[in-house]
Amino acid sequence: MKRAIVFGATGGIGQEICRDLADAGWSLYLHYHSNAQGAQELAQELFAKYSKQDFMPVQLDFAVRDTELTRFVKNLLPVNAAVFAQGITKYGFLGDEDLSDITKLININLTVPIKLTKLLEPQLMKQNFSRIVYLGSVYGGAGSALESVYSATKGGLTRFAQAYAREVASNNLTANVIAPGAVKTQMNAIFSEETMQEVQEEIPIGRWAVGNDISYWVRTLLDQRSGYLTGQTIYVTGGWLL
Ligand SMILES: NC(=O)c1ccc[n+]([C@@H]2O[C@H](COP(=O)([O-])OP(=O)(O)OC[C@H]3O[C@@H](n4cnc5c(N)ncnc54)[C@H](OP(=O)(O)O)[C@@H]3O)[C@@H](O)[C@H]2O)c1
Repeated sequence: MKRAIVFGATGGIGQEICRDLADAGWSLYLHYHSNAQGAQELAQELFAKYSKQDFMPVQLDFAVRDTELTRFVKNLLPVNAAVFAQGITKYGFLGDEDLSDITKLININLTVPIKLTKLLEPQLMKQNFSRIVYLGSVYGGAGSALESVYSATKGGLTRFAQAYAREVASNNLTANVIAPGAVKTQMNAIFSEETMQEVQEEIPIGRWAVGNDISYWVRTLLDQRSGYLTGQTIYVTGGWLL
């Protein structure tokens, strides 16, 4: 049985990734941070449709000690793939940020995904093929004012995936980044209708992305036939910025 863990399964993009992967035959760990109910409802929805596959909610706050990360990974059944679709952002000038908020953002978006990759590596290596996908961002390629730390974490994921992919390529483990542009999810709920419209006018395709514009590419990267593509960042932006 193919099994993947989707970190951030309760997010706007994460949920669509889970639906797409379930449709492709994957059993899934549905990781959540605070939204236990959302993870449970998603598990029920998927099980109703794909009763021969497993859908298991698992909780982890990425702002925890290393020992808890190790324990979390030890308790998992073997997985063939990990998708990192969790993430946070914070808008504002760097000069106004609290140091603790900077640390938190870097931990959740970059440091803990790297540590979990290291911890998952032994079990991923045991599979005949395995996959890691990180959700990056167009801002990892073109830095965004008022999101400088966020941009740094996403640029960091891009470079990490490129380097790490070269370390593990001979083990049939690929590592890639899917980097969305503007996607209609909770992450952008703070924006007014007017700001959303202004962004839309800048996007050549003429609309914001929805979750399954992004999940399609994750599903494709997890396919066994995608084994020759590794270390890449694929920008899924409707032609915006990059
Ligand atoms: N939306 C966009 O326009 C956009 C554009 C480019 C890139 N991205 C990237 O795509 C990914 C998904 O974004 P999204 O729009 O789907 O975000 P979202 O709807 O806000 O979902 C965020 C996810 O991150 C999880 N999370 C939050 N704090 C966490 C913590 N402390 N520890 C572990 N997990 C935590 C949340 O879990 P709970 O809900 O359970 O708390 C949720 O599953 C992110 O990496 C984001 O940076 C998004």
